[in-house]
Amino acid sequence: MAIKDRARLDDHYSRKARQEGFPARSVYKLEEIDQKYKLLRPGQNVLDLGCAPGSWSLYAAGKVGSKGRVIGIDLELPDTAFPPQVTILQGDLLENPVELVHSAAPFDLVLSDMAPKTMGRREVDQARSLDLCRMAWAWAETMLAPSGHFLFKLFQSQDGDDFVRTLKPRFSQIVRLKPKATRSQSLEIFVLGMKYCGPQKDESTM
Ligand SMILES: C[S@@+](CC[C@H](N)C(=O)[O-])C[C@H]1O[C@@H](n2cnc3c(N)ncnc32)[C@H](O)[C@@H]1O
Repeated sequence: MAIKDRARLDDHYSRKARQEGFPARSVYKLEEIDQKYKLLRPGQNVLDLGCAPGSWSLYAAGKVGSKGRVIGIDLELPDTAFPPQVTILQGDLLENPVELVHSAAPFDLVLSDMAPKTMGRREVDQARSLDLCRMAWAWAETMLAPSGHFLFKLFQSQDGDDFVRTLKPRFSQIVRLKPKATRSQSLEIFVLGMKYCGPQKDESTM
């Protein structure tokens, strides 16, 4: 796509987000993936890692409805009004286990749109993104319901590919996605693990 057309598309998503009451254009990445894979349904329990400014949590809240629940966590508290089924917690996911999250598990869907503050140095950004993905997986692995789904953002790299390969036996299917709302120059892709197979059996006890 030509740079001018791409910039127009970027503007289109930002404008649309403002008009539809979402604080960030990233909502259209989740929407596109959800429309294709039907991840979100009424009554589900959803964990949103790196939730600020809140577009994904808002979108998920609309889909799970008043009988569902969305727990969002971020370093920063979003300045967004959420419906009652959303609980937002402040914390650094690389450091603090947040007790409330454990008590709310299991989750039907664990989302991570976490991204590091980019340094403009490709290898550093890729390595930091991968640290966040590993951490998101550590959370998902213990808190996903059987057959639950895990969607996370990754800055592509060889190490990232190796990490995704380790997830393959843990899900029925793994897909890599680049939604239309992703900026073309961005390193980011989304990885969706569908139908979690459950905790790994410890073969030494079998
Ligand atoms: C791209 S934004 C998420 C946008 C969000 N999905 C939305 O639609 O509004 C990435 C977020 O990851 C958060 N983040 C990065 N590192 C984190 C960490 N260690 N713990 C918690 N949140 C983190 C950032 O604070 C930032 O708000």
